[in-house]
This record gives sequence, structure tokens and C-alpha cells, in this order.
Amino acid sequence: VARRGARIEVIATGTSPEGDGLAEADGLDLLVPDLLAGERAVVGVEHVGRRRVGGAVVKLLRPHPERRRPPCPRRHPCGGCPLMIATPVGQAEMKRQMLAAHGIVVDRVVRLEHELGYRWSSKRVVGGRPGRVVLGSWQRGSHRLADMDGCLVDHPDIEACWRELAAAASELGIEPYDEGARRGDLRYAWARTDGRGAVLITLVTAARQTRVRELASRLRRPSGVASCVQAGHGSSLRGGDVEILGGAGSVVVELCGERVELGPLGFLQPNPPCAELAYHDLVSAPWLPERGSLAYDLYAGAGLTTRLLRRRFDRVLACEAYAESARALEVEPSTAEAFLADHGGEQPDLVVANPPRAGLGVEVCAAIGKLRPRWLHVMSCHPASMARDLERLRAAGFRLLGARAYDTLPQTAHIEVVVWLARQGLE
Ligand SMILES: C[S@@+](CC[C@H](N)C(=O)[O-])C[C@H]1O[C@@H](n2cnc3c(N)ncnc32)[C@H](O)[C@@H]1O
Repeated sequence: VARRGARIEVIATGTSPEGDGLAEADGLDLLVPDLLAGERAVVGVEHVGRRRVGGAVVKLLRPHPERRRPPCPRRHPCGGCPLMIATPVGQAEMKRQMLAAHGIVVDRVVRLEHELGYRWSSKRVVGGRPGRVVLGSWQRGSHRLADMDGCLVDHPDIEACWRELAAAASELGIEPYDEGARRGDLRYAWARTDGRGAVLITLVTAARQTRVRELASRLRRPSGVASCVQAGHGSSLRGGDVEILGGAGSVVVELCGERVELGPLGFLQPNPPCAELAYHDLVSAPWLPERGSLAYDLYAGAGLTTRLLRRRFDRVLACEAYAESARALEVEPSTAEAFLADHGGEQPDLVVANPPRAGLGVEVCAAIGKLRPRWLHVMSCHPASMARDLERLRAAGFRLLGARAYDTLPQTAHIEVVVWLARQGLE
């Protein structure tokens, strides 16, 4: 029974979005870290909520054939790589099953050989104390910091910059920001690399008057160092007062043959070589005409998909709500909802959409249904919201042509999916 302290034997039937093994206890979801789908184990119940029960493996009775010794010795307590206890092949299979549990059947899960050192964009919370600065991440569900020194999934050039930053900040006696007391200097750091040696570091502080300039002058490894001020409560790194403190103020990443320039707060897919394959499939498919007349790019971000679509379509209209990205696209910032309300008159051949985790939602699905493009290609990082959108899009007159998944973040439960749809009745 699902009582705190009880021990129960379970078989994990799936993987939760956080990467825990998913089983059942008294009709409730039982979440068990370090338990893989298909494994049988004795689990100790640690927490009983209204809808979920949390447990820990006491004894593993039947391990998964793809279980392995995880390569990272610091996996606990960081918790960032919950699936590292399975081989990459096993992880891909678990992700395929996660999608199938949402009714999304993919033809394959695309993955690259590099399961480590793949992150080209990485963030750190700054903690520790003056003289012993630690760069880490919050342990799951807490404000306790886990030291991430030696992280295996970060690109080696970024990892080298983190080491230099922690050492220089310690030497200088920089005071880490204390979230509880709301006092201190350095709060977060964010690194992005072009994969060819250049690394741009953004140092985030909570106040204007700080010692980050002095800190930046000590750093030799990054190609550029910038700062920004984020005084707000949440955990967002993006703040105001952006300043270039030294070196180059941007990195240029080549994606799908296009140069994408990233400033101190620019978004970069963490694993560009894998994401590139997803972007390619998002904008191209065998059914598309060699030359089309009109395409819409919803949630266009920095504009990579817009540029790729322009190779094939005479006119591409981009829509993006975030002001800085919209400026780079040379459009007025607009939500997809407002954009579709304004652009209902023409019928595009193709609509491409890459929404945030919440998905397209009721209004956008209905508006695309009214627009009746011949094809609709959607990319999503959230299987549950994509499953809901697919239902709505079917009801709005689209049929599914296919789906493919991309394991852009090995070791985590994250998965990107591209689905291709066509207007019903279309040959
Ligand atoms: C998953 S990102 C995709 C960005 C880009 N297509 C890419 O792949 O890099 C989602 C984008 O949607 C934007 N966004 C969020 N809500 C939006 C909305 N309601 N309408 C339009 N854009 C929105 C965000 O600013 C972000 O750039």
C-alpha cells in the first residue's frame, strides 16, 4: 500500500517527463528515480501526495538489459542526467515508448554518436562562499546547490571555461549571490560555444555595482565575456543592462549551412548538430513543391527556419513574440494568435510551427484549421502538449503523415518531435 515507509514490489511501465521510472501504487502514479521502464524492483515509499507517490529503489530484482554503470561519478546529487543508467540505445527506446504512451508513433528516434560533451549552451547557478566559489545547479525541487565541476555533458571548451571562472572568482573573493538573503554579487553564468573553440560567457548579477568587470579581466579562455543584471525573483537568466566586458560580444554558430549570430542573451539549441537534423526535417519533406509561393513560420525565434524556408518559398512570413528576436527578423513582435487573426486572408502552402512547451493550444489550432494550408509541420519538445494539439488538429481537418523524434539531450528524458500533417482531402 502507498504509505510512507512501506515497501512494495513494482514493475516500471514507463518513464516520467522528469526521467523517473513510472509505476503504480494504489491507483496513483509512483515515481521512482533510477528505475528504468520494464525493470522490476522493491521500492520504499518516501512521499505520498494527492495524485503522486514518490519512492526509491531498495532492491533491483530484474534490471533492464540496457542498464549500465553511469559514466558520471557526480550524477548524484546533480540529478541532471536521470537516464544515464541506460545505454544510449536503451535511452532512445525509452523515449520512443514515452511518445507512444502519448499516442505519438515515430518512424525512428534520431540520435548522434556523441552522448557526452554535446552541450553547446550551458547554465550555472553560482554558490559556495567567497574564496570557494562553486558553479552548479539546483538539486531537483530544492534550492540546494549541486557542484557540477567536471560535468560530462557540457562541451569540453565550456567545461574548461567553467573551471577557469570558478578558480578566478574564488581567487578574487567574489561573493556568490545568496537567494535567501538576496545579497551577494555573482548569481548565474551562461556559456555558449560555436563548437570550434569560441565561447561566450554571460555573467549574471543581481545588482549594477559589482566586481564582474574585474573578474572578466582575469578570464583567458572565453572568446568573449558579457554581463547582465537580473534582480528579479525567478530563475530566469535573462536580465537587463547587458554589457560586453571583454573580447567578442557574440558567437557565430553554423546551423544547416546558415550563420546564426548569438549575443549575450541569445537562445541556442543545446545540441546544434542533432537539432540541425530536426530543423532540416521541419522545413523539408518529399511532398513539398520544389518552389512554393507562401509559407508561414510561427514561433520563429532567431529566424533559422525562416531563412531555410526562404530557400524554397517566394514569400515567408515570420511570427515571433519575443521583442529581441522579432527585431532580428525585422518584424513587429506578435503572438501566433494575433498573427493568425491578421493573416487569415491568404492561404499558405505550408505552415511551420515550433511552439514553446505549452504547445499551440486551442486558439492557434482552430486558426490554422480555418487557414487551411496544404501542409503543416510542427516541432515540439513536450509530448503531452503535442498529443493534445494533434487531437485538435485532426478535428480541425488535418491528417498525420508521419512523425520523427530527435534525441537532442542524451542522458535526460527530453525529446524533440517533428510531425508532418496535410490538409484532409489533399492527395
Ligand atoms: C521553442 S522556441 C522556437 C524558436 C525557433 N523556431 C527555434 O527553433 O530556435 C519558441 C519560440 O516561440 C516564441 N513564443 C512564445 N510564445 C509565443 C506566442 N504566443 N506567439 C509567438 N511566439 C511565441 C518564443 O519567444 C520562442 O522564440
